[in-house]
Parts: sequence; structure tokens; C-alpha cells
Amino acid sequence: MQTESDKNTNTDFEAIIRLENITKQFSNKVVLDNLSLQVEKGKTTVIIGPSGCGKTVLIKMMIVLLRPNQGEVYFDNERIDNLQENRLKDFRTRYGFLFQAGALFDSMTVAENIAFPVLQHRRKVDKDELDEIIKIRLALVGLDGYQNHFPASLSGGQKKRVALARAIALDPEVILYDEPTTGLDPIRSDIINELVLKLRNRATSVVVTHDMKSAYKIADRIIMLHEGRIIADGDADYIRDHPHPNVQQFIHGQASDDDLAVLRMNDQFHHPQYSPRDFQKQ
Ligand SMILES: Nc1ncnc2c1ncn2[C@@H]1O[C@H](COP(=O)(O)OP(=O)(O)O)[C@@H](O)[C@H]1O
Ligand SMILES: [Mg+2]
Repeated sequence: MQTESDKNTNTDFEAIIRLENITKQFSNKVVLDNLSLQVEKGKTTVIIGPSGCGKTVLIKMMIVLLRPNQGEVYFDNERIDNLQENRLKDFRTRYGFLFQAGALFDSMTVAENIAFPVLQHRRKVDKDELDEIIKIRLALVGLDGYQNHFPASLSGGQKKRVALARAIALDPEVILYDEPTTGLDPIRSDIINELVLKLRNRATSVVVTHDMKSAYKIADRIIMLHEGRIIADGDADYIRDHPHPNVQQFIHGQASDDDLAVLRMNDQFHHPQYSPRDFQKQ
């Protein structure tokens, strides 16, 4: 069970998303362990933690792309974890998501990629209106003029920005970002950080990252996940000075003693343990 979670943020706020006592497991593996979290409206909440700790599962829970085994999910005070898939589709139009796997459609132009969610959601859209939506979204990410380009001609950073323009096509209330800067060089990462900051006054953001530079820059609040629970929850300064050894190891990119022990153990294999004779036929 989760212990009293580490909170250094005021929870007396308007929550747009609430996760209550969420447990998620895959076969026997518990990924989220009785986790509760409220996402404050209009703010940027950053979720950090080592690979495989459940960050993607946690944000998928927020739009019920995965359903919890136990617990409840609320969006704007409405319970959504128990809704049918067709009702969920309506809710999902209120979110924009920039997922790692959410690549652009390669056979479509940039403009067609951005138009896609709009046409799916609203069958009838005037062509001029659609062009205007596309233009405004592209201008926001600094790529107006790229309407007729195909994704293959764009850099990794530009593709991310087009994907972001697509994510905000329907003017979502919440934007979920899953590791938006992974795979980008520091300058392109910083452009994404600036865009997250720029979009701050249009929507609530939840950003999963293991890029601490990015986390410190964009977060109003940072939450660290460890073994399916929240072990630290506060603003950047609070996290920077947090006493929990797992938090310090993570933010400084240090391997734990356990990790090092494993590496040292494997190192033994660099020394010859077998002689050629061992492989000769008896
Ligand atoms: N659909 C799934 N089926 C089975 N296991 C899953 C599934 N999705 C995630 N997991 C497992 O849950 C754990 C957390 O995954 P994830 O949330 O993707 O981690 P990360 O923090 O790196 O985003 C991992 O051990 C992963 O293998
Ligand atoms: Mg992930």
C-alpha cells in the first residue's frame, strides 16, 4: 500500500484530472500501486522517474487508454474510467497528446496531418476555416509555410513540432506529452521546452520526461514515480534538495549501488573463464 505521499504542493486547487487510489497491474506485476494524484488546472505537472517505472502507463490512465484494475479516474469532476469506448472518444477530443509512438502519417502532408483530427471530429469544416486552423497551429510551433511538406523532408525536431501542432488542432484543455525531448539534441529540446511554456496559457500540461533540464525549466510541479508510487512531489527547488536517495540518484543521473553491483558482476565475464579445451569434443 502507498504510504502518505510526499507532498510539498498546495492541493487546495481546481483539479482538472484526478486519479484516486489507482492500481494497475499486468499479470502479476504491479505497475501503479494505489496511486492518487490531482492535476491542477492551468499548470504544468512534470512526471519523472526511471525507465519502466510506469510513467507512460500513468498518463495513459489519465485518458483511459488503459483502465485501472482498481481506483477511479475523473476528468473535470466526471468519472471516466468506467465509460464505454464511444463516450471516451468524446472526452479524448478534450485532450491533445504527444506520445512517443504517435508518429505523423508519412503519406500525408503536414497540413493533412493537422487536419486529420479536425476532420475526424467535425465532419463539416469549411476549407478556409480548416486552412486557418492549420495556419494558426503551425505558426504557434514556428512552422507556418510547411503546409505542403511531407514528414520525410523534416528534421526530428520539426516532426515533433508538427505532431504538437496536430495535438493542439482541436484546442484541447489538457495536453499530455510523453518524453517530448527524447532523441532531440539540446537545442531542439529547448525549442520544445519553449513551446511547452508558450502553450501554458492555452491548456493544462502533463509532461513525462527523464530530462531534468527540461523538467526544471517547464514545471510548476514535479512528481517522481518509483516502484508505482509517488516518492516526491513539489516544485523544482523542493525536488532539487529532496532527501530521498532515489530522487538524488535520479536527478543526478547516478547509478545506484545495486546497479553498480550488477555491472561489476557482469565484468567478470570479460576475464576468460573457459579455455578452448572446454569446447573440444570429448
Ligand atoms: N500493455 C502492457 N502490457 C504489459 N505490460 C506493460 C504494458 N504497458 C506497460 N507495461 C509494463 O509496465 C511497466 C511500466 O511501463 P511504462 O509505463 O511504459 O514505463 P515508463 O516509465 O518507462 O514509461 C513496464 O514494466 C512495462 O513493461
Ligand atoms: Mg514511457
